[in-house]
Amino acid sequence: MVKSPLQWKHSHPPEMDDEQFSLWQTAIEVRTGMQIPEQRRTFLKTSIRTRMKEIHCDSFQSYYEQLQTGPSSEQEWTILTDRLTVQETHFFRHQPSFDLAKEKTKEWFTKDPNKKSVQAWSVGCSTGEEPYSLGITLDEQIHSMHLGNDHYFGITATDISMPALNKAQAGIYKEKKITRQISEARQKKYFDQQNDHNFQVKPLLKERVCFARINVLDLSASPLNDLDIIFCQNMLIYFSRWRRREIVNHLASRLQVGGIIILGLGEVMDWANPKLERVPSDKVLAFMRHCH
Ligand SMILES: C[S@@+](CC[C@H](N)C(=O)[O-])C[C@H]1O[C@@H](n2cnc3c(N)ncnc32)[C@H](O)[C@@H]1O
Repeated sequence: MVKSPLQWKHSHPPEMDDEQFSLWQTAIEVRTGMQIPEQRRTFLKTSIRTRMKEIHCDSFQSYYEQLQTGPSSEQEWTILTDRLTVQETHFFRHQPSFDLAKEKTKEWFTKDPNKKSVQAWSVGCSTGEEPYSLGITLDEQIHSMHLGNDHYFGITATDISMPALNKAQAGIYKEKKITRQISEARQKKYFDQQNDHNFQVKPLLKERVCFARINVLDLSASPLNDLDIIFCQNMLIYFSRWRRREIVNHLASRLQVGGIIILGLGEVMDWANPKLERVPSDKVLAFMRHCH
């Protein structure tokens, strides 16, 4: 039987008072790292209300309790987290960052004839545009050096949002997005046109990228190590300053010596790590690991 939509008690939706707002702010920050400032209060309230309506719950308090102790609290958190995260992204979002990945790949393969692969991690990869852009960049660089088939790259791309990861894994994008953000030559090489509306990433690129759900607040659960490149952009801006530093320190520990971490410009300020040195550039915010 199809349930009728919830009729709010007293015919208007529940309000979120200051105390409730602060309770939700804390719960969300503890769970995801994201800070919800006062300016986003309406967004928070509306997103939670929409979800409450779907599951026929009519008070913020009882929904909060469901999330803390209910039988499907994990699953419910997954759904709510997806509604609250900002997943905006596009291909080659910050070109200088990709240029640096390209330049470093060239340098590593040129200097070390024993080096056969470049391993990268895209942290907070959203719907896949960032790791696929990185994949295109690395693939083009390796081909341009005529290194042969024993040279390759691998990318692990992670996010907290399951729906975003599912889209990324499918690798299907609207035609408009592809034609606006990807050159014609790259469209031909890396995408198949499915129909008038969609393009799909070709297997040659897709099989080099694997996706997994990892919450950056729980990085110790990630097995990734000895990476050459870590991309972490446009995610930390939603986190507090101390948490940003903590995450970047942890990510840096997963780099191999000579490896680089590329952040979004301005995302981490007044931060230094004794094992890292800043890559000199005012166009990118990147650090290289220089010792064990
Ligand atoms: C604005 S997108 C950035 C996408 C891409 N990195 C870019 O620069 O275009 C931010 C992503 O961070 C993810 N995110 C937010 N909190 C997270 C967390 N605690 N762990 C992992 N991913 C998280 C969101 O789900 C979202 O997909």
